Amino acid sequence: MSRIPIGIVLNGVTGRMGYRQHLVRSLLAIREQGGLPSRDGSLIWPEPVLVGRNADKLAQLAQRHGLTEWTTDLDAALARSDVQIYFDAQVTQQREKAIRAAIDAGLHVYTEKPLAEDTDAAVALCRAARTAGIKHGVVQDKLFLPGLRKLKRLVDGGFFGRILSVRGEFGYWVFEGDWQAAQRPSWNYRSADGGGIVVDMFPHWQYVLEQLFAPIRSVQATIATHIPSRVDEAGQAYEATADDAAYGTFELEGGIVAQINSSWAVRVRRDELVEFQVDGTHGSAVAGLRECHVQHRGTTPKPVWNPDLPVTEPFRAQWQAVPDNEPFDNGFKVQWELFLRHVVDGADFPWDFAAGARGVQLAELGLQAAREGRRIEIPALDL
Ligand SMILES: NC(=O)c1ccc[n+]([C@@H]2O[C@H](COP(=O)([O-])OP(=O)(O)OC[C@H]3O[C@@H](n4cnc5c(N)ncnc54)[C@H](O)[C@@H]3O)[C@@H](O)[C@H]2O)c1
Repeated sequence: MSRIPIGIVLNGVTGRMGYRQHLVRSLLAIREQGGLPSRDGSLIWPEPVLVGRNADKLAQLAQRHGLTEWTTDLDAALARSDVQIYFDAQVTQQREKAIRAAIDAGLHVYTEKPLAEDTDAAVALCRAARTAGIKHGVVQDKLFLPGLRKLKRLVDGGFFGRILSVRGEFGYWVFEGDWQAAQRPSWNYRSADGGGIVVDMFPHWQYVLEQLFAPIRSVQATIATHIPSRVDEAGQAYEATADDAAYGTFELEGGIVAQINSSWAVRVRRDELVEFQVDGTHGSAVAGLRECHVQHRGTTPKPVWNPDLPVTEPFRAQWQAVPDNEPFDNGFKVQWELFLRHVVDGADFPWDFAAGARGVQLAELGLQAAREGRRIEIPALDL
């Protein structure tokens, strides 16, 4: 079978997301499965060019995976005649200028979220990409998680009747770094470095709510920095200047009310690190990363409030698991495959920079709503 090599500049590949999810679990996994069949039956074959700031780390990483192409010189990588795609998994602050350089070099661009640090910059990147006529996409991995795929299947199948509300609970305890090392990078907790849970998570909630339920019409949020000081990777104490928890309320078109708590200062007594409960007139569902459970109106119990009695019903046991019914691959890999087919075959790819800009906009307006203590309508972006 003939191969179609696709050179991909991977910037930020030494980071958590760049290495594990995008290089190993997506692009190398596609090579391990023998390539990705294109429309005409040839095999799309990713050829990563690793880019970062630390030559030793890049060399080690390349060697570990039998790769030969790496550099600390982004411009040189973008100028190579054998690359077609630029991918960005750097810290968010470095993203805009690197994407702009990639667009100027005529490459197609795929990027981690958020697309940019503010809405104006995200809109400008979207316009620049359109003007240049390149293909562009933003990671929206949560859409491809088994739990949310099952939830989408329920929505599409009319399981809920009229959907009334969505309640999301996301988070876990991120250690402060003093007596146990933090399991997230320290820049996440510094505003000046592009940190904060709103900027990190609202772009995800934007596409989850919009694509599973309905467009978002307004946002309200209360945010907090619950843990004011932390200890970084080098063991130095620093002030946490960014929000580490956000309690958001979103009104969706059609009257659905969505509330999502996001926190790095919460302990998990749930089945998964994120869970969404959807209540509708005909049934309810609770979906996590992998699992999804439902309760139909016909099997809904009738509890009566009486604090004098012990719990009368095994509430958790009254839900039914939604079966897989299909194989689920890694969500990042699934979206990479769709982007590669978009580039090679011109297949549809709706998760573009315009979609990414709406995610940035929700984060920006969420922060404004919190600052001003009010509900903010979400205007359509002029793209
Ligand atoms: N889709 C998701 O679920 C998801 C989850 C986490 C993070 N992300 C996004 O991925 C991106 C990377 O996050 P991460 O958690 O992998 O971060 P990380 O700190 O682990 O990695 C950051 C990468 O950027 C590089 N970098 C370039 N310039 C830098 C600078 N000036 N300072 C520090 N690092 C610099 C680092 O070398 C490293 O390779 C962020 O934009 C984040 O929003 C997405």
